[in-house]
Amino acid sequence: MADVKIKVLRYHPDVDTEARYDSYIVDARENMTVLDALFIILTEQDQTISFRCSCRLGMCGSCGMIMNNKEGLACRTKIAKLGSEITVRPLRNLPIIKDLAVNMDPFFKQWQRIKPYFVPTEEAANDFAVIPPESDRREIIDQNIDCITCGACYSACTLVSLDDSYIGPAALNRAYTLVADERDQGTKQRMEVAAGEDGVLRCHTLFNCMEVCPKKLAPTWSIQKLKTRAVTAAFKGGSK
Ligand code: FES
Repeated sequence: MADVKIKVLRYHPDVDTEARYDSYIVDARENMTVLDALFIILTEQDQTISFRCSCRLGMCGSCGMIMNNKEGLACRTKIAKLGSEITVRPLRNLPIIKDLAVNMDPFFKQWQRIKPYFVPTEEAANDFAVIPPESDRREIIDQNIDCITCGACYSACTLVSLDDSYIGPAALNRAYTLVADERDQGTKQRMEVAAGEDGVLRCHTLFNCMEVCPKKLAPTWSIQKLKTRAVTAAFKGGSK
């Protein structure tokens, strides 16, 4: 492959009054990812550039960023798919710590609100509560269980951009995954938040979250299922 120009957004809130783009030329090799290119820039051209990563395998979610205007994981995005000029910038809707590294606190504050952990029923707490892998019940849970909390959907969500009190697609997807799990008994508390003023009814079904999810999850559909549940409960006079 030929040289590739990589424009990286640079911003340090303690020092800079505004963001700028710095350009770097990288000799792109076959199968090179955006994360590989950032490491080449860091080690060979500019040691002041900041970005975050850990696993380099698409599992930890820490390398989420926007590449040529679309959210994704830098460690799973091949240079060859992006062309000869690539623009890299940090996720939206999250404060910039420096350059491509963002503060994930707003994302995880929303994540916490929906009680993101399994709350076992008495039966499930005392013994393994088995749901057969091939069963329909398992299929419902499996569909959206692989979220790696990278924040790509939170960044792409127009409704979060308009009002960050909205819980957002990742947390609501997690809420549905647990609500759909018959072994869990946290549904009432979760639905009170999910059906509340910051919850599912704010979603305008724009599908931005689904377009960018690197794990091909479908938060929009999870939100629709929670909406159905919330509206049905409202007709029946409850929150569950
Ligand atoms: S470095 Fe872990 S997902 Fe990219």
